[in-house]
Order: sequence, then C-alpha cells, then structure tokens
Amino acid sequence: MLVHPRIVIGVPSEITQVEKRAVMDSAYRAKASEVHLVEQAMVAAIGAGLPITEPSGNMVVDIGGGTTDIAVISLSGIVYSRSVRMAGNQMDEAIMNYLKRKYNLLVGERTAEQIKMEIGSSYPLDKPLTMEIKGRNLIEGVPKTITVDDSEIRESLSECVSTIMNAIRVALERTPPELSADISDRGIVLTGGGALLKNLDKRIREETGLPVSIADDPLCSVVLGTGKMLSDFKLLRKISIE
Ligand SMILES: Nc1ncnc2c1ncn2[C@@H]1O[C@H](COP(=O)(O)OP(=O)(O)OP(=O)(O)O)[C@@H](O)[C@H]1O
Ligand SMILES: [Mg+2]
Repeated sequence: MLVHPRIVIGVPSEITQVEKRAVMDSAYRAKASEVHLVEQAMVAAIGAGLPITEPSGNMVVDIGGGTTDIAVISLSGIVYSRSVRMAGNQMDEAIMNYLKRKYNLLVGERTAEQIKMEIGSSYPLDKPLTMEIKGRNLIEGVPKTITVDDSEIRESLSECVSTIMNAIRVALERTPPELSADISDRGIVLTGGGALLKNLDKRIREETGLPVSIADDPLCSVVLGTGKMLSDFKLLRKISIE
C-alpha cells in the first residue's frame, strides 16, 4: 500500500540552507506527506527523557558519527546550540593515522572502529586493556599482527576528545547564569554512540566539576526522540526549525 508518512528528521544545528533543502527534498521524494526538521540535540534530549518543557536548564551533548551536537534547552526552546564536526568517524580516522605513524600498519575503518569500541577511552582505565590488531605493513606490504594497549589508543584519541571538551567548555561559558545553576544541579546528559567511549563521562566530570550521566540507550536517543515528536504535534510545531 502506498502510505505517505509524516517524517521527522534530526539535523545538526549548524546545517546550511542548501543542506536543509537537500534533506527535505529527499524526504519528499521518498513520498513523505510532511517533513519536519528538528535539531539533533533537541530530539536527543527528548529521547533521553530530559524535562525540556520545564523552565529549568538542561544540557545535552550528543556525540554521533559525524558531529557532536551540544545544546542547552529550557522551556522547549534552544538557549544555546553548537555543532562541531568532531565525533566517532574522526576518532576512527585518528586511530588509523596513529597506527600508520607509529607502526607503519594500515588498517581499515571497520578495524579502527572496533579498536575504539573495545579499548578506546578518554581517561585512564581501572584495568588496562590490550588488543591484537591485524593490518598490512606499509613497508613490507605483508599482513601483520601487533598488540596495542589502551594508553596508546587514548593518546591517539586525545586531540578528538580535547576538541569535544573545548566545545563543552564554550557552551558552559555561553549559558546564561540562571540556567548554569540548573545545569550544575542536574548535570550534563550524554547521548549518541560516542557517549559509550570508555570513561568519557568521567573525563567530562573531572574537567567541568559537574555531574555527568549517560542516557539509558544513547545510540537510540535521537530516534526515540523523533518518535515521541510524531505523537506530540504541539511540541513538534514548537520545536521544528523551518
Ligand atoms: N562503545 C562505543 N565506544 C565508542 N564509540 C562508539 C561505541 N559504540 C558506538 N560508537 C560510535 O558511535 C558512532 C555512532 O553514533 P550515533 O549512532 O549516535 O551517530 P549518528 O547519529 O549516526 O551520527 P550523527 O549524529 O553525527 O549524524 C559511531 O562513530 C560509532 O563508532
Ligand atoms: Mg546522531
């Protein structure tokens, strides 16, 4: 049967007009009857169950594949939002570059992602981890297996993590003082797959001195949020961005 669904799409806050058009067009071409764009961090906050309609301030940091989206939300509105192109994909790339530089070892993106998920971290771990990695030696051109530990991968990710930390710091500085007080009580909520990077919550807690929590199902926060939007038309009208 031909159905023409309403579609809600989460987009980064720093999306250009041209990109916005392209996203809308593809949804209409997929036979949508209505298309609504909402900021990813906003839907992530809704999906994570944050009380975004209340007057108090909420801060959400959504670390995805391509972008990290940070937002401060109050009364269903975005008080501050920023999207930086530094997230999971750039971390995978950083791991690939590190292995190339240090061991002349070439690995694919999938392997790099696996390394990140298994032993990647942003703050020293209680129990050290190691991992065997298969790749191709760049000089001899032959397959090679090496063992790396968590401290090496942490080093390779340090620049990526610093960039995210900086963006969080800037967001905190730009937040109006009365909302900052709320955030220091309720803390920062992390969503997106990047929130699962080991000890990232600890690192943010350590550097900001604020409480930090990870959403229950960080990989699904955005999709859960867009789902909630579809059944709450009033809220959708209020927060959609076109
Ligand atoms: N356990 C983990 N540790 C570290 N990173 C992880 C983990 N699990 C998933 N990721 C990373 O999370 C990213 C995907 O997250 P998510 O699904 O939130 O992104 P996305 O919504 O598709 O991207 P974007 O929000 O940029 O459009 C991938 O880079 C993936 O490697
Ligand atoms: Mg996302």
